[in-house]
Amino acid sequence: MTSTTAGTSADGRAAPPPSSKTKVALRGVSETMLITLRARADDARQPDPVLRDTWAADILDQLDYSRPPTLGEKAFFATVLSRARLFDSWTAEFLNAHPEATVLHLACGLDSRALRLAWGPRVRWIDIDMPEVVALRQKLLPDPAASGSDYRLVATSVTEASWLEDVPADRPTIVVMEGLLPYLKEAEVRQLLERICERFPSGQIMFDIVGATFLRLQALNRPIAKTGALMHFALDDGHDLEMMHPKLRVKDVLRIWQIPGREKFPWNLRLLLWVFSWLPGFRTTNSYMRYEF
Ligand SMILES: C[S@@+](CC[C@H](N)C(=O)[O-])C[C@H]1O[C@@H](n2cnc3c(N)ncnc32)[C@H](O)[C@@H]1O
Repeated sequence: MTSTTAGTSADGRAAPPPSSKTKVALRGVSETMLITLRARADDARQPDPVLRDTWAADILDQLDYSRPPTLGEKAFFATVLSRARLFDSWTAEFLNAHPEATVLHLACGLDSRALRLAWGPRVRWIDIDMPEVVALRQKLLPDPAASGSDYRLVATSVTEASWLEDVPADRPTIVVMEGLLPYLKEAEVRQLLERICERFPSGQIMFDIVGATFLRLQALNRPIAKTGALMHFALDDGHDLEMMHPKLRVKDVLRIWQIPGREKFPWNLRLLLWVFSWLPGFRTTNSYMRYEF
């Protein structure tokens, strides 16, 4: 358990004074990873954390970034944490079944998944994000390669083709995309999935996605809307994605009102999700999907 006081980091070390903090000048989709970071950092400071991401709390202390809380943020944070925990458990499940594997963690942001999860010496882990985010990550998070792990941090847009050519295609591959696909255009999603399915022999792909109704109402999601990030891609029926490549097969589709850990959501969020679960259009407002290929 981790608890902090003002000016103290999650592990009890003194937080740097404001002047020595790292300035953050991100806007749009890159800024959204500071919201998920904040969700994990706040959680790490709770007496009974959901995710226990102490790296997040330490990173936030090092950043010169403050943003007034937005309406509904607490409820939004609760969903971010459950999503991260679900993706941790799906990733761990794959690595247990495939001790020799490649992990492609696309749009990693400042997420500490590579540090949070235990992974063996025959796992190759690749974290990928945009150059400005990777530059920040290099300053703020420890490099698992320094302790001998097969780890690489790649600065590129996932929509480029070239980064995939540098990843050996010799192992089952798990692709983790948390908070990414809604921000890509449909043609970019199709191309990315095609490239992954063509390059690797087999594996799994997991991502979260919004439904078409959510996409139309995205301005109501204040924490995201305030960054200026725009969502473009929605998916209601998980089977529609199987059309994008013949190897893709749905393994799991979980709706937000079915996500493990929802029993700990604030009561007003639980009520809202219960209502959503009965309303066409809102039933598929946020989903967590896992595919095999
Ligand atoms: C909502 S944040 C999620 C970050 C992280 N997965 C997490 O859960 O904290 C979205 C992330 O997607 C990244 N991103 C958006 N478009 C991208 C692209 N085309 N290529 C690589 N990363 C991208 C952003 O830079 C940002 O870090």
